[in-house]
Amino acid sequence: MLKQLFRTKSLDALVHEGEEPEHQLKRVLGAFDVTMLGIGAIIGAGIFATIGTAAAGDLSRPGAGPALMFSFVLTAIACGFAALCYAEFSSMVPISGSAYTYSYGTLGELVAWIIGWDLIIEYAVGNVAVAISWANYFKTLVAGFGVNIPDWMSIDYRTASKIPGLLEHAPHAFGVPIVFNLPAFSIVALITVVLVIGIRESSRLTTVMVIIKLAVLGLFVWVGFHYVKPANWTPFAPNGWAGIQAGAAVVFFAYIGFDAVSTVAEEVKNPKRDLPIGIIGSLIISTIIYILVAAVFTGIIPFKALVQTLATSQAEPLTLAIKYANIEKWGSFLIGVIAFGSVIAHTAVLLVFQLGQPRIFFSMARDGLLPKSFAKVHPKFKTPYVTTILTGLAVGITAMFTTIDEMVDLTNIGTLFAFILVCIGILILRKKEPDRPRAFKTPWVPVIPVLGIIACLYLILGLPWITYIRFIIWLLVGLVVYFAYGYKKSKLHKENERMNA
Ligand code: ALA
Repeated sequence: MLKQLFRTKSLDALVHEGEEPEHQLKRVLGAFDVTMLGIGAIIGAGIFATIGTAAAGDLSRPGAGPALMFSFVLTAIACGFAALCYAEFSSMVPISGSAYTYSYGTLGELVAWIIGWDLIIEYAVGNVAVAISWANYFKTLVAGFGVNIPDWMSIDYRTASKIPGLLEHAPHAFGVPIVFNLPAFSIVALITVVLVIGIRESSRLTTVMVIIKLAVLGLFVWVGFHYVKPANWTPFAPNGWAGIQAGAAVVFFAYIGFDAVSTVAEEVKNPKRDLPIGIIGSLIISTIIYILVAAVFTGIIPFKALVQTLATSQAEPLTLAIKYANIEKWGSFLIGVIAFGSVIAHTAVLLVFQLGQPRIFFSMARDGLLPKSFAKVHPKFKTPYVTTILTGLAVGITAMFTTIDEMVDLTNIGTLFAFILVCIGILILRKKEPDRPRAFKTPWVPVIPVLGIIACLYLILGLPWITYIRFIIWLLVGLVVYFAYGYKKSKLHKENERMNA
């Protein structure tokens, strides 16, 4: 039994299955599209919604202050190690399952299942958080046009219960207040429709959205730069290293996404070359932008003033900075533009993650670990429509009823865990199959993967303990599902049985 649990699938078999006609997706994406998808997945709620808290701190963690720039560098380094490992894997096994597939080829079926199950946290739960943040910004944006979405239909129950009077004023059914986040559900539903229609359309839409969000962040940096007072950068790290570390743990969310590029491997024309370009390129571009935004943001608002602002204002940090700069003529216009850019940025993140999750399910179903119907490709649109719709429903419904903070922490731990397994996978594969052609090679192996593992563990240590518990429960549920279904239905298991018979 132990042998079976750790049975690995040959990488050649994995690649070969991706080429079977009934399971084939359309290869239409190039290096540019892939880099755009990466930036599309990376820049979103993290930069538009969390840097205020990261810089200011809150009751549970010290703020980074202007050293937020360092927090971004720190997290970028950790992600950089993981990105190099992802790049090697994706060039070697260009299959849409991402870390799941890489683990199947190196660490065995059980670990692969665990990682596949874990990736649901990164992609689906991460998207729940982004959908909720999207809804906040959308509400602010339309309020600027005089459209007020009632609170009871744009919030979850637990957050609502903390706002005085909200539950009392909500409509009631049988004495129970009706409260749910309709905008969060609606955006996920809309994106699901786009994704079922086709990858090419999705990628085009992503490119347009990426251009808009880069332009808006560029505008913020350019205009904001004129209002920076270098004196605001001192003291640089008001809470020392503790602040920088806590900031890094928060802004980790902002970097999640470069790895999502690997899930479109089967739709890329030249995956061996284009995937490493997309993964590393999108990470570098986003890092530069983040550091610039952090520098301008902390240069406009003095730390002391930032700490005194309300948490709700900190949740919209860029508009807060513009308000603080008190730009006379164009100030309110700029605030509107930033709110718009933020909605677009969030939408792009949602799109790429909603695109990634079904492709991981798709790979798992192809291996027999999930029902066959999950691997169905739409006859006309050539997209994995069953899993796309299921993911849309799961994310949309959860986003209606959950709070953002819990979802962000859970996403961070799940993603860091996936990064660690990918780094371990590289170490194993270099030993097991040293001669396998690698279009992209992670430099300085074993140093880089080992540093990647240490850096990710370090970031995990910065997360609250309740997150560990939630994560462990999630993994245990996954194990039950595996032993009840995947263990027996696995294609590899069936092949082994046939061979032994
Ligand atoms: N990195 C993505 C974001 O910031 C998840 O929204």
